Amino acid sequence: MEERDLIQNYIVDNFSADNVCEQKERLKAENKYRDILELTDKFNRQSVSFQLSKKDALHGWLKYKEGFSANLVNTFLKDYGIVAGNNVLDPFMGSGTTALVCQMNGINSVDYDIMPISTVAIEAKQNIMRYDVNEIKTLIKNFGMQFLPEQYNKRTPYIRITDTAYPENNEKWLQFSKEWIEKSDYSDEAKSLFKLCTINSLEECSYTSKKGQYLGWDSRSKKVIEANRQRVEKGKKPFPKCHFREDIGDVKNTILKELKKALVDIENIQSDYHDYPRSSITYKENSALFELPKMQGNYIDCVITSPPYCNRYDYTRTYALELVFLGVDTEEKMKQMRQSLLSCTVESKPKKEVLMTFYREIGETNRYNYIEKVINENPVLNEVIDALEKRNNMGELNNNGVIRMVKGYFSDLTFIFAELFRVCKSGARVVFVNDNVRYGGEVIPVDYLCTSLAEDLGFIPEKVYCLHQQKGNSSQQMAKYGRVALRKSITIWRKP
Ligand SMILES: C[S@@+](CC[C@H](N)C(=O)[O-])C[C@H]1O[C@@H](n2cnc3c(N)ncnc32)[C@H](O)[C@@H]1O
Repeated sequence: MEERDLIQNYIVDNFSADNVCEQKERLKAENKYRDILELTDKFNRQSVSFQLSKKDALHGWLKYKEGFSANLVNTFLKDYGIVAGNNVLDPFMGSGTTALVCQMNGINSVDYDIMPISTVAIEAKQNIMRYDVNEIKTLIKNFGMQFLPEQYNKRTPYIRITDTAYPENNEKWLQFSKEWIEKSDYSDEAKSLFKLCTINSLEECSYTSKKGQYLGWDSRSKKVIEANRQRVEKGKKPFPKCHFREDIGDVKNTILKELKKALVDIENIQSDYHDYPRSSITYKENSALFELPKMQGNYIDCVITSPPYCNRYDYTRTYALELVFLGVDTEEKMKQMRQSLLSCTVESKPKKEVLMTFYREIGETNRYNYIEKVINENPVLNEVIDALEKRNNMGELNNNGVIRMVKGYFSDLTFIFAELFRVCKSGARVVFVNDNVRYGGEVIPVDYLCTSLAEDLGFIPEKVYCLHQQKGNSSQQMAKYGRVALRKSITIWRKP
């Protein structure tokens, strides 16, 4: 099929199932941005060159499914002529793909993320050329010789949602190895690598498995055994048997396996890339909503990023084990972290009050008012919210937190876009990766809605790359409302 015909499969001609709600603004946007929509397969992993794929090993150091590929970042840096000495920004750094690819090309980057997992990842990865291979070998040997003292009875902390996630021996080993490395004389680099390898071992050493939206529990865990006992008592059937892995990994050997894997990469990369360029990664563990407004203006040459999607995905649940291990170890701290995420779960509370206070404190009330006005006056956003409210009144949203989430999501993003506009130099591109979504039969064209908000703020929409692979329709929505095109897109805007 011709590309021209193929693209029809990615264009939405009905945003509201059964024409229940107003859709003229969404149709207008669909028509308006049609000319900049391009179906592409330029961003698949296969197009990664051999040399790059060797370096790619480093990108995979943190087990992090939400990351985009190094190839994507490389492609855009090349396309937009970003070179050594330029400054790139990633406000939602995740595993650090943008930062690392920039570092490999001698480009400086400024990066933010709220999760300490990102901090561990970037600390370990950016040290790649500084590791002392002999020290790591000694670390592996010495850790391999450790045994848990018989009387050792401390265990790794839990919160309610992670309680008893590990077999008893692993609970102790996790705490023991944490204390062991902290008390040791190894260099900061070696310690950061050990931390990353421990983080990567947690799932394998537990009764849990990351299952997209939630954490799955193995039927051998105390939690499921107890739940089954109560079910049987009430005359119910126990949950079906579920084993994610034959054997639950033991902490010492799993960390050792991770360390050995990392050592191979370190040796390869250090021997192949003597000329690994030196550029700066300026990273801060904090919300981009509160960091970007403090950044100097007209400083950034390109933004390459991917925010959380508007899909109810809760990073604090998926990464609960890792977060608890890294010190988010009380219900209160976890709740706070969940609320700091860009509004992407049905539990997200509006952030406008906090943002208003913050902008006032930094003497930028006018800027706050301007952004607020852009949010309130965007016709596509208003139509989406009205449509969701109507669906909710008809009882078609299975959780009314969805409306709050969607409102919060686009409100938070508008604050981000406004600050991106301010910190970018004239001519800078913003590359934003995101997915479209549908709730209660209403399609939310996240790509075009964001583009329209960005345009309201002064950006020039340049391109919307749409990937061949579409986002799957949820089975519930499909059964009720039929199939619809949900694009996975990369939107490109330019500051004039
Ligand atoms: C889709 S992931 C980014 C993946 C990244 N591009 C990579 O290659 O690994 C989105 C990230 O945004 C982070 N995040 C969510 N809310 C944030 C906020 N308010 N400020 C900064 N980062 C945030 C999440 O912790 C998550 O790591």
